[in-house]
Amino acid sequence: MVFFAFHHTPVLFEKTIGAINVHPDGIYVDCTGGGGGHSAAIGEKLTTGKLIIIDRDPEAVEVLRERFKGNKNIYILRDNFFNIKSILNELGTGAVDGILADLGVSSHQLDDASRGFSFHKDAPLDMRMSKEGKSAKDAVNLLPEQELRRIIYEYGEEKFAPSIAAAIVRARIEKPIETTFELCDIISSAMPAAAKRDAHPARRTFQALRIYVNGELDGLTGAITDMFDCLKPGGRLCVITFHSLEDRMVKQALAPLAKGCTCPRNFPVCVCGNTPKAKLFKAVTPGDDEIRENPRCRSARLRVAEKL
Ligand SMILES: C[S@@+](CC[C@H](N)C(=O)[O-])C[C@H]1O[C@@H](n2cnc3c(N)ncnc32)[C@H](O)[C@@H]1O
Ligand SMILES: [Zn+2]
Repeated sequence: MVFFAFHHTPVLFEKTIGAINVHPDGIYVDCTGGGGGHSAAIGEKLTTGKLIIIDRDPEAVEVLRERFKGNKNIYILRDNFFNIKSILNELGTGAVDGILADLGVSSHQLDDASRGFSFHKDAPLDMRMSKEGKSAKDAVNLLPEQELRRIIYEYGEEKFAPSIAAAIVRARIEKPIETTFELCDIISSAMPAAAKRDAHPARRTFQALRIYVNGELDGLTGAITDMFDCLKPGGRLCVITFHSLEDRMVKQALAPLAKGCTCPRNFPVCVCGNTPKAKLFKAVTPGDDEIRENPRCRSARLRVAEKL
């Protein structure tokens, strides 16, 4: 079922739309269409320009097609933005004027219990954005304990990963783990009371499983570099992240692009010939007002790179 009342409050909205710097005749790509909030604002500024919207979630794509029905400037496709180079090649756009990637899950995905993303809602363990491939249920029931421990530790930055992975393996010997709430109980049983006081005990483990199931970090560095390569000189790449792991990867992918000469300081002339390819702007975070209105944006961070 598709929810046409797809709700996602776009994060860092004004700052992102300002940063992408839309020219009415330019070509733009929104790599993560979601509910179309950012896309709508970009689309409104176009006259002869084009906006290509990508999302890997078939439900999001259906909602986006409905929302932008009849808009001749907007082209929507279901794909993984990791394929941005081949997507733009096939469309024959050439280099583009601006690219946005608002990473992670949408509020719709979190709030629709049937998708199994949320530890607040009891549902089958799923968490697949694309609704294809292996689910979170497959991961918790089939992966070796060591691999579960690694995933929960690395992608969730969860220090109780060893005891959580062990508890998952003990539980699944009795019966397969089917639902979000079953998993929450298992996670909670593996953590000391003091560690559960401030945040939901399952928060980090759910984040880890979601990242694993959707392969969110596996090709992210390459995808950011590819997005940058697809820009025209003067074009801007805007990336919004939601947790420190993701932000670190984006920051590290962009940093080398801004580097100029790497010759040792005592060289009288430059022999490396490296010149900076990008101007990087200071990272932007939400203000207190935005956090009050939309608490989910608390950890959001916008990074902008302009191609020189
Ligand atoms: C945070 S939401 C974007 C919200 C959007 N900016 C708005 O204003 O409504 C992220 C969206 O990106 C999609 N997504 C995440 N990773 C993706 C990927 N690798 N390729 C394509 N879409 C992806 C998700 O399915 C989700 O709909
Ligand atoms: Zn040099």
